[in-house]
Amino acid sequence: MKNLDILTELAQLGNKLDPTGAVSFPIYHSATYAHPELGKSTGYDYSRTANPTRSVLESAIANLERGCKGLAFASGLAGITTVLSLFKQGDHLIVTEDLYGGTFRLFEQIYKEFGISATYVDTSDNDLITQAILPTTKAIFCETPTNPVMRIADIKGISKIARFHGLLTIVDNTFLTPFLQRPLELGADIVVHSATKYLGGHNDVVAGLVVTNSEILAERLSFLQNALGTILGPQDCWLLLRGLKTLGLRMERQQQNSIVIAAWLSNHPLVDQVFYPGLPHHPGYEVQHAQAAGPGAIISFSLKNKDDITKVLKKVKLISFAESLGGVESLITYPFIQTHADIPQETREKIGINERVLRLSVGIESIQDLLEDLNQALES
Ligand SMILES: Cc1ncc(COP(=O)(O)O)c(C=O)c1O
Repeated sequence: MKNLDILTELAQLGNKLDPTGAVSFPIYHSATYAHPELGKSTGYDYSRTANPTRSVLESAIANLERGCKGLAFASGLAGITTVLSLFKQGDHLIVTEDLYGGTFRLFEQIYKEFGISATYVDTSDNDLITQAILPTTKAIFCETPTNPVMRIADIKGISKIARFHGLLTIVDNTFLTPFLQRPLELGADIVVHSATKYLGGHNDVVAGLVVTNSEILAERLSFLQNALGTILGPQDCWLLLRGLKTLGLRMERQQQNSIVIAAWLSNHPLVDQVFYPGLPHHPGYEVQHAQAAGPGAIISFSLKNKDDITKVLKKVKLISFAESLGGVESLITYPFIQTHADIPQETREKIGINERVLRLSVGIESIQDLLEDLNQALES
């Protein structure tokens, strides 16, 4: 059947693929596979190279992102590590300045040592990107929306600049997922995900996914996945497959809750600023509206008084003070000392990741209960 709705595509992941007729695709817990005869293979020889459960997950994410190859990794950072291994000594990348702290750490404390350098720019400004291009630049790596101040990068515009200068465009699509945004359709070459977040969706698995629409990149990335051994195990592949089946339902509900919460926070007397691309005054609203099917379910907000932060984090009852996002349970994070602690203080201040900013990952709970919890935490 052609042109199935994405909700149908998601619900049917893994079904009708196993020869036993299993509706839930099985977990193939085998490290190795017998050869039918010398020089023949079933397509599976050793599970680092290929595993049936991983293959189903990898095809699923490739289809969802409209790419030709998907690859599953032990974590989002394992996927990004593998992607960065495409580059060599002397190469330079242009990178989003308000990047996830762990990715920044990878660039600055690992790949810099190998001679791969990065210039950090505000990737919501295409002129700044163009100005940062050097003769050694090989790629533009961006997150959109950014974390936590929710800047929006124009993926189509960036891909055009990249193509003109012979660079790759790599987009971290963790915050929106292919349910809301498909960077490859907008011109990007590689999409990376922390699948730990919305794709898994239940805060029960750490995983990474990478997709490309270039056969050449697919071949090189598959080589690197096998050579580096950064793969995701079959049990975790299955957890992701199960989580993905409800991605659409979860995202719709989480986004619906977020739209209400963002408006509520915007009118709260203790709140200074709300960073959410679904609010019409958000500077990236137009671009977001043009390139994505929705604003997503992450809201950052700053309080007027920094002393209120400790009280709010202590007083939330339903919402957990924890360092992740994208799951069905609502979480609140303090980026200044948690997710973005590795970003230099000067950059954090410039971007607006200050001591007054909190990030809310909105879950699927009842909106009344979430508002009540936020209300009592802020009032206290
Ligand atoms: C946007 C983004 N990219 C990548 C990562 C890294 O993913 P993982 O924690 O699965 O290694 C994270 C983790 O928080 C993230 O938020």
